[in-house]
Amino acid sequence: MATDIASLDEGKIIPDHIAIIMDGNGRWAQAQGKGRVAGHKAGVSSVRAVVKGARQLGVKALTLFAFSSENWQRPEKEVSVLMDLFMFVLTKEVKRLHKHNIRFRVIGDLSRFSDKLQKSIKKSEELTILNDGLVLSIAANYGGRWDIANAAKMLASKVQKNEMSLEDIDENSLHKETCLADLPELDLLIRTGGDYRISNFLLWQAAYAEFYFTETLWPDFNEAQFDMALNAFNQRERRFGKTGEQVKQIEE
Ligand code: IPE
Ligand code: IPE
Ligand code: MG
Repeated sequence: MATDIASLDEGKIIPDHIAIIMDGNGRWAQAQGKGRVAGHKAGVSSVRAVVKGARQLGVKALTLFAFSSENWQRPEKEVSVLMDLFMFVLTKEVKRLHKHNIRFRVIGDLSRFSDKLQKSIKKSEELTILNDGLVLSIAANYGGRWDIANAAKMLASKVQKNEMSLEDIDENSLHKETCLADLPELDLLIRTGGDYRISNFLLWQAAYAEFYFTETLWPDFNEAQFDMALNAFNQRERRFGKTGEQVKQIEE
């Protein structure tokens, strides 16, 4: 099995935009007789591995689900450790991202985070805003339904201010108000941890994404695992509603 992402066969299609539901931290820790928090900490090295892999392959956008709008329901202690970890990673890793020309940003409803965390996020986004390499988006307090509702609200507000008419509301104008609208369409959605669901992640954006599910728990996900997901992606025929014959004709 390939251990380095650079060993990927030539001629492979590299997805422009990959998103990952990084799940299974708690179970990974429990399996080792540790507390759930140890799993979240261990998961940070998997984040480093996929960022490095994506960067080396020339992926344009990588979007990682770090904290869902539903995750507030977890025990207070776990939520607070996750916030501390987020803060720690921000202060420690963003310089390195910047050095690699990565543009960092956070998507989600940030208003529920502490002022300190909001400021740190803003600072990191501003530092990397002019970078034109990989766009790394971290979804925090993100929910796909929130994203769509928020987009609807933006459109309603524009109509109310007479900046657009009701007739201009369509898929395109709504799309423009959703998160990640400036990035290439989502090509590949990976979920680790063995569950086969979307858990309110990129509902709008995943319309034509390929899904890849793996039993591997997030802290065990490494560059070789990433390679396997990309290999699976390359086996798929993306038809976008057309017939297989039509797709083959276009390729020829
Ligand atoms: C994913 O791992 C990380 C977050 C949701 C923050 P989990 O913490 O959900 O791990 P499991 O699913 O309980 O194993
Ligand atoms: C999804 O994982 C959210 C993140 C990975 C951040 P969850 O562990 O919260 O999903 P459910 O609750 O199993 O659907
Ligand atoms: Mg989980």
